[in-house]
Amino acid sequence: MQRIIFATGNEGKMKEIRMLLKDLDYQVISMKEAGIDIDIIEDGDTFEANAIIKAKAIMEMTGEIVLADDSGLEVDAMDKGPGVYSARFMGEDTSYDIKNNYILDRLKGLKGSDRSARFVCVIACAFPDGRILTTRGVFEGLIGDTISGENGFGYDPIFWVPEYGCTSADLSPEVKNEVSHRGKALKEMKDKLKEWM
Ligand code: IMP
Repeated sequence: MQRIIFATGNEGKMKEIRMLLKDLDYQVISMKEAGIDIDIIEDGDTFEANAIIKAKAIMEMTGEIVLADDSGLEVDAMDKGPGVYSARFMGEDTSYDIKNNYILDRLKGLKGSDRSARFVCVIACAFPDGRILTTRGVFEGLIGDTISGENGFGYDPIFWVPEYGCTSADLSPEVKNEVSHRGKALKEMKDKLKEWM
């Protein structure tokens, strides 16, 4: 069976990715399983640019088909920040409790749609023949008034999902995968890969 490498070191993400891509006729393996251990500098200023940088770099190293993702939170009242800087926002080692409280403080006094935000995920696929394919998934919501929820990670405890009346950290992993930016981008990638392979 032909292989696809998914350029992530995150085992949680790999689990989600394998589940969503399981009916492709390709074996999806992690960078670790492919024996690759490098840090790629993501210096693009869009999610698309960063996902492509990662997918191309690993494709050029291995000569195999490579998928990579880049994601983040856009808060409209913060000029769509932290955006591509979501992981590095306020420093890579700063806890999400501090980052989330800072965002709540920044939005103090704003109500309703003035608190609009979204998670964005872009998946890029780099083929050895030079073709590049990208898909984008968006998960719209609001910044909540307080921190809530134990599931998920990162900014989930402040991301209010009006349709469910809770934060994305209150959603079960199954429901979050169904409606999230990453779930949507991966599903679209799976459909496109079937046409492109
Ligand atoms: P990356 O896709 O690993 O580069 O993620 C970038 C950053 O965006 C993460 O470190 C989180 O801060 C944020 N992020 C992306 N997706 C999510 C999500 O589903 N929930 C919460 N935070 C997220």
